[in-house]
Amino acid sequence: MSDRGFVVWFTGLSGAGKTTIADAIEPLLRERGITKLEKLDGDVVRTHLSKGLGFSKEDRDTNIRRIGWVAEVLTRNGVCVLASAISPYREIRDEVKASIGNFVEVHVHCSIEELTRRDVKGLYEKAIKGEIKNFTGVSDPYEEPVNPDIYVDSEKEELADSVAKVMARLEELGYVPARTPA
Ligand code: ADX
Repeated sequence: MSDRGFVVWFTGLSGAGKTTIADAIEPLLRERGITKLEKLDGDVVRTHLSKGLGFSKEDRDTNIRRIGWVAEVLTRNGVCVLASAISPYREIRDEVKASIGNFVEVHVHCSIEELTRRDVKGLYEKAIKGEIKNFTGVSDPYEEPVNPDIYVDSEKEELADSVAKVMARLEELGYVPARTPA
């Protein structure tokens, strides 16, 4: 394993479960000895580093490039980063991936029907009524990853299954040491 860190980048629609999965994975990585760890969450980043940015393509691209830049600096210093942002545009995700290298793309999928039913933040209802413009998946594009390193479906899988899938793949890719038998 190199001294460089790595990025696990969760992409998917609002409410699909990106942050929930990242939150569940964090303690598991720590258990495996990955203690230099930072989470970068779109919702949080938008309260400081990206404060004032909106949801035009240009602003979203700026937001993702900022998150990508911070992630790059951190990985250079041996930190593992769990990044969660809708990151709707393939080209920008690929750009960030290319600049970081140690980048694991996780597509957190959930159908619009299910997201509208869950509507945890009440945003889908508003978006459908047109009260929020340019809402990803309703009135703004989401470009699905073509070949993600990991695909999870929060509609069909339990959280524990998705988490196990991500951990297993990180092991397989050599980013996480295999669990040593007790
Ligand atoms: S991104 O497109 O730039 O990657 P980001 O993940 O940072 O988005 O922020 C998405 C969050 O902003 C959503 O979870 C939601 O709470 C909120 N939000 C507000 N307006 C919109 C919108 N028009 N489209 C998508 N999300 C929005």
